[in-house]
Amino acid sequence: MVAFTLNGAAASAELPEATPLLHALRGPLGLSGPRFGCGAEQCGACAVLVDGRPAHACTLNLGAVAGRSVTTVEGLGTPDAPHPLQRAFLDEQAGQCGFCLSGILVAAAALLARDPDPDDPAIRDALDGHLCRCGSHNRILRAVRRAAAEMRGAP
Ligand code: FES
Ligand code: FES
Repeated sequence: MVAFTLNGAAASAELPEATPLLHALRGPLGLSGPRFGCGAEQCGACAVLVDGRPAHACTLNLGAVAGRSVTTVEGLGTPDAPHPLQRAFLDEQAGQCGFCLSGILVAAAALLARDPDPDDPAIRDALDGHLCRCGSHNRILRAVRRAAAEMRGAP
């Protein structure tokens, strides 16, 4: 059994330690936010935060998160109390199919946690490993800038 913290609560999975974290999250742990895209660290659809840093859940072994803190998009906010990024992505309609967005949202949350006022190159760099086949990139940039401004309390 591997025990860890998932979105702020104690969690455990009765799976071999070599199981990809993504399989545990989407399987027994019942979270559908992180997505399986490429399975090879090439698309970012599976991204989660491990101790606040983005990680590819498709290749990270479950055993590697024992005792650590994992955050998925479900842990950022709720429909009633969304994270400013989630609200900004809705306001900017920053997505079409949405397949890429859970990974992008957690990566953007990690960026804003370490840099509350990122410029466009910093946002592009933070999201560089995240593919959006719908071509929503400009709206995604606008949404991250909008959330950053709101979180800073900028007018
Ligand atoms: S599914 Fe993990 S990077 Fe594509
Ligand atoms: S919104 Fe469809 S892949 Fe990004």
